[in-house]
Amino acid sequence: MLLRPDHPEQPLDPRAVWGRSGPWIVEIGFGDGRFTAELAREHPDWNVLAIDVSAGSLARAIGRLVAARISNVRLFHGPAEFALRQLVPAAGLRRVYVNFPDPWPKERHVGNRLLRAEFLAQLATRLEPRGEIWLTTDHDEYWDFALAAARETGLYSIDERDAPPEVLATKYALKWKDAGRAYHHAVFTKTAEAREPWPVFERVPMPHALMEGELAELVDFEKEVLTIDGGSVVLLDVLRPLDGRGFVWLAHVEEHGIVQQVLLEARPTPRGWHVGLANFAAPIATDGVQAAVGWLVAWLEARGLRVRQRWYRSVAWTVKRKDSGPIAAATGPEEDVSSSRST
Ligand SMILES: C[S@@+](CC[C@H](N)C(=O)[O-])C[C@H]1O[C@@H](n2cnc3c(N)ncnc32)[C@H](O)[C@@H]1O
Repeated sequence: MLLRPDHPEQPLDPRAVWGRSGPWIVEIGFGDGRFTAELAREHPDWNVLAIDVSAGSLARAIGRLVAARISNVRLFHGPAEFALRQLVPAAGLRRVYVNFPDPWPKERHVGNRLLRAEFLAQLATRLEPRGEIWLTTDHDEYWDFALAAARETGLYSIDERDAPPEVLATKYALKWKDAGRAYHHAVFTKTAEAREPWPVFERVPMPHALMEGELAELVDFEKEVLTIDGGSVVLLDVLRPLDGRGFVWLAHVEEHGIVQQVLLEARPTPRGWHVGLANFAAPIATDGVQAAVGWLVAWLEARGLRVRQRWYRSVAWTVKRKDSGPIAAATGPEEDVSSSRST
């Protein structure tokens, strides 16, 4: 039922995932999954992909769907921006439900809203001709914001309707019903093709390097923030495994709507220091991850290690430091270095 971010086939083939073709429906932000379960039960012929960033939501929804023996739902734990871009082929979707999206009411957080014009234009690439987005919200400002965003794209017609009963039976809808709150509902129908494609991220081999030399004990570490094209990499801290073999760095990588927490390592091996991603979780080798490894190699070079071989494409990054203004001079390598693969 659970799709992993490193699913071997990207975008997905619905015949492989559901064992059949059929209308492909997405729900963004499934919350406790009660709407998902109801939708799947009402429409057994639909292939439903339900997406949520919250681990708590995922746990609740899995429990509910398993208990109800529902077999036509697949769940994805992570941001919708990533799932739609990476897992859904162009023109794959019949309909997308967005029930009570997080409103992000503060002015400085408006950029976090899901249904911004940029995302609506990207989502249009994944909708069939005349594919639909069904939006329901109780938040007046979000409502105005989303409608303005849909109009701005020029890709949708907007049909404001009374909310159908099923979208008023979600956990959020029920929570506010007694408070007498008003609901807004609209169907955005795709009427034109997006001008820009939204290509899936190219998957590249895991970046790493082999280094040699003595590494002195690390006694302190200051958080580093790298700026990369379309995002940032934050090196949060460095940790030492209990067996004392090497070091592990905690990194937060954010780029073009993908957010990843990754562990980098410098681990001694008989052939030298392995510098790259630790064997943990399921990171995707994006430009941001390559920049993080490139930064770590440069950081270790500055502490006396020498590169024997590296297997990554160099990605430009710039270090942001408080003490030297917004952008300090340190920059990542500009040219590709040896990318030969060892045996
Ligand atoms: C206000 S709740 C509504 C939940 C549910 N639809 C309901 O009506 O009860 C918003 C949900 O969207 C999820 N969410 C927020 N941003 C998201 C994103 N970028 N991708 C996927 N899910 C997201 C949250 O974790 C949360 O479960």
